[in-house]
Amino acid sequence: MTLHRRMRLVFWSLILAYSVIFLTLYVLLKVPNNLRVVPFEMEKTVRPYAREIARSDVKICRRGVKDSSRMARYEEAYEAWRDGLPRRNATFNCSPKNHILFRKVHKCGSTTLANIFLRYAFLNNLRVVPFSFNLAPNQKYDILAHHCGFNETRFQKALPKDVFKMGLVREPFSKFKSAFFFYQRRLESTLPFSSDNHLKEFLINYDKWSQSLKLPVGIRRNSMSQEMGTYHEGLRRNRTDLKAFLNNLSNYYDFVAIQDRTDESLVLLRRRLCWDLRDIVYRRKLTGKYNAESFVDSELITRHKTSDSVDFALYNYFNNKLMKEIAQQNNDFYVELQYFKQLNGQITEFCEQPRTIRSNSVLEVERSPWSAGFTVDDCFCSLMTDIMEFKRWKN
Ligand SMILES: *[C@@H]1O[C@H](CO)[C@@H](O)[C@H](O)[C@H]1NC(C)=O
Ligand SMILES: *[C@@H]1O[C@H](CO)[C@@H](O)[C@H](O)[C@H]1NC(C)=O
Ligand SMILES: *[C@@H]1O[C@H](CO)[C@@H](O)[C@H](O)[C@H]1NC(C)=O
Ligand SMILES: *[C@@H]1O[C@H](CO)[C@@H](O)[C@H](O)[C@H]1NC(C)=O
Repeated sequence: MTLHRRMRLVFWSLILAYSVIFLTLYVLLKVPNNLRVVPFEMEKTVRPYAREIARSDVKICRRGVKDSSRMARYEEAYEAWRDGLPRRNATFNCSPKNHILFRKVHKCGSTTLANIFLRYAFLNNLRVVPFSFNLAPNQKYDILAHHCGFNETRFQKALPKDVFKMGLVREPFSKFKSAFFFYQRRLESTLPFSSDNHLKEFLINYDKWSQSLKLPVGIRRNSMSQEMGTYHEGLRRNRTDLKAFLNNLSNYYDFVAIQDRTDESLVLLRRRLCWDLRDIVYRRKLTGKYNAESFVDSELITRHKTSDSVDFALYNYFNNKLMKEIAQQNNDFYVELQYFKQLNGQITEFCEQPRTIRSNSVLEVERSPWSAGFTVDDCFCSLMTDIMEFKRWKN
């Protein structure tokens, strides 16, 4: 080969290599804006998809308002958007349940679920029990989904007889950790800590300190049982009473979700309520990570188990009940579950895009055996996080 030819070869090889690199980068960078929606066929790779929409179709419900006192104004934008949504046909041949009592148990991921119920209420023009519990005379409401103490008299006043009652529990030590780190500042300003390891000290003094009524309910001993029903301290000692308590709760609640199995719980719930998948999708939030085990020893964890024994019994009871109910579902439960997880991931990914990109496109979700087709747009994304701040509920 002559020098000349060799140089030509090198030259063209370089051109080819650069083209390949350029094309690969182009495809890689381009893909996120370009993907097809969650087709129902499970074997297909599920990818986010943003269909460009015309400028005139851009509806922005809220432009990242931080000031919650201005929220009421934005609710008008959400209402206009909702009223313009296409009418939904019935997806299944059952009628969706619209009357819900949701026990928003503290530190059990209850905000994620409350969001779902409030969004459903908003999109379907339902009445939500006011936070103040100042009820309009002779008025029944559709949905109760805020934090409040267990009071059956109050619930009966506010809600119709056919209300679907739903509870929520979480693995108690995991709930404890979540509560401790959430309320840490408050605990430190209330309790007489004397060491550096506050978590350990709190656990050592758990029986005494966690009873303080100055502390939020979420950190108290057996707090989930206190929020779920009529708890009394005798339940810690008397197994007969404890059994009666759990049976009572089991008869009372139509469904008890398990925070550690949120997706499974939601899929079951959707089936029980005859809702559409669109009604239960949610945006995953990164939750606080903390490694409590490095602060405490296993003996303290065991002691916590004794102190919180009613909550452990409650958790085990309803966790078993949920597992049994899952076992009774058809095989397509797991197909739906997998699809639901993917869908939530995609919606989160779409909604977390910068607002400028997000508001010029929509995510289209094709119909599936569990859902009519639907569109996720900027307003839907915002609604998923803003709904808790709404004040203009129908009453
Ligand atoms: C509702 O059903 C009607 C008649 O079956 C159909 O024409 C219409 O497109 C459906 N609407 C939606 C939003 O799916
Ligand atoms: C429960 O609610 C009723 C009716 O609102 C009220 O009269 C009663 O004091 C409440 N009970 C407790 C223990 O808060
Ligand atoms: C359980 O039983 C008692 C009566 O023994 C009742 O007052 C209470 O409201 C019941 N329900 C729950 C969920 O605790
Ligand atoms: C537990 O409570 C029941 C009544 O609820 C009582 O009959 C029984 O004696 C109690 N058992 C113990 C060991 O205290």
